[in-house]
Amino acid sequence: MSPDASPTYKVVKIPGDGIGPEIVEATLTVLAAVQQRFGFDIEWTEVKAGGVAIDAYGEAVRDEDLEVMLASDAVFLGAVGGPKWDDPAAKVRPEQGLLKMRKVLGLYANLRPVSVEPSLKESSPLRADLIEGVDLMIVRELTGGIYFGKREETFEGPDGREAYDTMSYTEPEIRRIVELAFGLAQQRRRKLTSVDKANVLANSRLWHAVVDEIAPSYPDVELEHRLVDSTAMSLITKPASFDVIVTGNMFGDILSDEASVLAGSLGMLPSASLGERQTEHGTTGMYEPIHGSSPAKTGLDIANPTATILSAAMMLRWSLGQAAAADAIETAVRTTLDSGTRTKDLMGADGEAKGWVAVGTAAFGEAVASAVTSA
Ligand code: IPM
Ligand code: MG
Repeated sequence: MSPDASPTYKVVKIPGDGIGPEIVEATLTVLAAVQQRFGFDIEWTEVKAGGVAIDAYGEAVRDEDLEVMLASDAVFLGAVGGPKWDDPAAKVRPEQGLLKMRKVLGLYANLRPVSVEPSLKESSPLRADLIEGVDLMIVRELTGGIYFGKREETFEGPDGREAYDTMSYTEPEIRRIVELAFGLAQQRRRKLTSVDKANVLANSRLWHAVVDEIAPSYPDVELEHRLVDSTAMSLITKPASFDVIVTGNMFGDILSDEASVLAGSLGMLPSASLGERQTEHGTTGMYEPIHGSSPAKTGLDIANPTATILSAAMMLRWSLGQAAAADAIETAVRTTLDSGTRTKDLMGADGEAKGWVAVGTAAFGEAVASAVTSA
C-alpha cells in the first residue's frame, strides 16, 4: 500500500454559536461514514470563534487559534453570531472574527454554488418554470474591496457627523479571483459573467479592464460583463442563464443572498472560502453553510444541516483531495431528500400528505450517513 492510501488530514472545527454545534455534529456523522468507506482519517482540533470566543476570551478569534488554522489543511465552521452579541456599537462583534479569519488566512475566493434540488422545486418562491435548470456558482472576492478599504468611523466634519468607507482593488487582487473563476467556468458550462458597476465606479472600470485582458487566455469560455443592478434583476427573471458569476466583495455578498432564495431554503447552500496556500492535498480553505446561527432554532434539533453537510463535501473536494468522497456525500444528500426524509423547513404545508417524513437535525445526518454507507 502506498503511504497515501490512508491519509490523515488536519482540520480545525469551529462549531461557533446558535445552531452551529448541532449542524456540525450532524455533519461529523456523515464524515465518519465517508472516512470509513473511502479509508482516510481526519484529525480534528476544536477552536472557539464568534460569540462563544467573545464570552470566553473577550475577542472574536484569538491569534493563537489563527496560528492553529494556518497550520491545518482546512477549517470547518458552523455559524457565528447571535442576538447576545448583536449591538452594532459593541467593541467586539462576532463578525470581526469572521473577517479576521478571512484576512489572516488569505481566503480571497468565496465560492457559493446555487442549484435547485429537483425534489425541492416547490420550496422555491419562484415559479417552477423559472428555476428549472438553475445551477450557478457565485465567485465572490473576499479579502478586498469596500470590506477592507480605508475607513473612518463617525467623526465631526464641516457639515456635522460624517463617516466613510472606501472601495479599492489592485490588479493582482482582481487577477487571482478572475483567473480562478475562468478556470471554474472551464470545468462547468463555460460561461462567465463578470459583475461590476463600471458605469460609475473607478475600481469597477479597472476590474472590467483586467477581466478583458485575462479573457484571451480562456478562449473556450464565453465572457459577459454585467452591471450589478441589472444582474440583481436577471437573477430573478432568468436565473438559469447564469453559470459562473465573478464579482467583488460587497456585490458578491448581496447577490449571493439573493441567489440563495432560488434554492428554496437557506438551509441548503454550502460555501467554500479558498486561500492561496497549497498543501500536499489541495488548496487550503474554510468551509461553512451560508446561513447564520439561527438563534430561534437553537437547541431544538430542528435546524437543517444540509448546507453544512454539503460544505463538508466542498472541503473534501478542494482541500483534502477526496473528490470521490465529496461526490458520495452529494449523492447521499440527494438520495435522502428524494426518499422524502427532510427537516421541518422543507416540509411545506402538505409534506406529510405527500408521504414525506420530518426528522430532526441529528436524524437527518444519520440518514445521509447511512445513504453513504449503503450506496
Ligand atoms: C457573509 C456574511 C458576512 C459578510 C457578515 C456576517 C460579515 O454576510 O458571509 O455573506 O458580509 O461577508
Ligand atoms: Mg452575506
